[in-house]
Amino acid sequence: MSFDLILFGGTGDLAWRKLMPALFRAFRKGRLPADGRILAVARDEHGDESYRAWLQKRFDDGVSDRLPHQDAFTRFLALLQYRRMDLSQTDDYQQLHVWVDGRPGGAASTVVHYLATSPHLFPMVCQQLGASGLNGPRVRIVLEKPLGHDLASAQAINRAVQAVFSEQQALRIDHYLGKSAVQNLMALRFGNALFEPLWRRESIANIQITLAEDLGVGTRGDFYDRTGALRDMIQNHALQLLTMIAMEPPSSNNADAIRNEKLKVLHALRPFTAESVARDVVRGQYKAGTVDGAKVPGYLEEINVPADSRCETFVALRAEVLNWRWAGVPFYLRTGKRLAARDAQIVVNFRPVPHPIFPGSHTPNKLVIKLQPEDGLELHLLAAKGSGTTDALAPVFLDLDFDRAFPADRIGAYERLLLDAIAARLNLFVRSDEQEQAWRWVEPILAAWQADEAGPRPYGAGTWGPPAASALVARDGFVWGEEQ
Ligand code: BG6
Repeated sequence: MSFDLILFGGTGDLAWRKLMPALFRAFRKGRLPADGRILAVARDEHGDESYRAWLQKRFDDGVSDRLPHQDAFTRFLALLQYRRMDLSQTDDYQQLHVWVDGRPGGAASTVVHYLATSPHLFPMVCQQLGASGLNGPRVRIVLEKPLGHDLASAQAINRAVQAVFSEQQALRIDHYLGKSAVQNLMALRFGNALFEPLWRRESIANIQITLAEDLGVGTRGDFYDRTGALRDMIQNHALQLLTMIAMEPPSSNNADAIRNEKLKVLHALRPFTAESVARDVVRGQYKAGTVDGAKVPGYLEEINVPADSRCETFVALRAEVLNWRWAGVPFYLRTGKRLAARDAQIVVNFRPVPHPIFPGSHTPNKLVIKLQPEDGLELHLLAAKGSGTTDALAPVFLDLDFDRAFPADRIGAYERLLLDAIAARLNLFVRSDEQEQAWRWVEPILAAWQADEAGPRPYGAGTWGPPAASALVARDGFVWGEEQ
């Protein structure tokens, strides 16, 4: 298979921090189809050679796994070309078309446009690609988040994309779906008979999804302050994980079979009202504190953050999926910057046994799906210690470490998604109706916050967020994973 990958935003942060390292890793491991060309496009003045030198420097400064592989990296650089484009100029797209058509040995079987630019350019780039005929059946377009700021802006982007590309051609990235743990979640649920009979309200007490980061907003204050944790993490990553946990078994492993089931979950989420936002959603903003023994500033002291910002850097909320499988089971979602640890996980808390016969109180079974930093599963059980002096139970757990189980096959999220985009495997991309429904669900929260004078609650950097987040869960008689 031959491919042309055209990377718009080729000198941007995303390109050199995530996409190029992912492409290099795929190349080095022999996973990238052999007959490929990669064209980086941006406004900067570069030729092929100076772009390669620029990228080499970026890798030297910041991408750790290049150094032992300089030979492979030099061969990888040879795949790269650079083209300066003014994205508003029709002529520049026509020149791009000439480049695509002029491929030595004939046109590539696949052309992927990857838009790693600011999203406000998406409609214009799509329209120009369409006008210059760069949207034929062998072409796909990959769109990076943020895809809109609210429902209306997301719909405007979708309309612009759909005027030029079919739904099958438009691949919306949510890089959390590329994480190995998420694919393992599918395998766990639909490749094993063990869990599915228990995967319902009769056996499960609550589900907790935590996407915690210990870093602050760093140099992204300007972007972040216009975005906030709800838009940055909940509307996309956390809700996508929720759909994977809650969806019904799809009839096949086909992209639309899966996406149809995920969409049903989004439709089944209980809609928020101003009252339920006040009760079931907690927003917070970090103050100065200590992370890993080092003092760190508060959000309001970060670069490019207005001193009176009300932007939330933390959200915890209680959601419900209104259907037969899940009625009455709370789904707690939580994300934040500058929390106590970098830790992304899903905890499925099972109900206690119906009639206890052993002395003492015990934490019921739980399944912990670890997304990062480790990729694994923990199944927490109870066992008899067997000391003979007591019949009390002790907690034990089965610990599956996928990084250790499959060391050679590990693949990063961007690498997986780039390879899928080239091979037209759509399972891990988000369909426009899913994305719009997710916006529909979070919008009442944004509206309620706007009308609420109180603003976000303070929390110390290096903690697990405002105490109200614990109270939210305690109200139902539960605690967050780290408090168990
Ligand atoms: C991005 C957010 O989508 O995900 C960032 O914009 C966040 O704010 C990042 O830091 C987290 O991704 P990961 O893979 O490091 O958990």
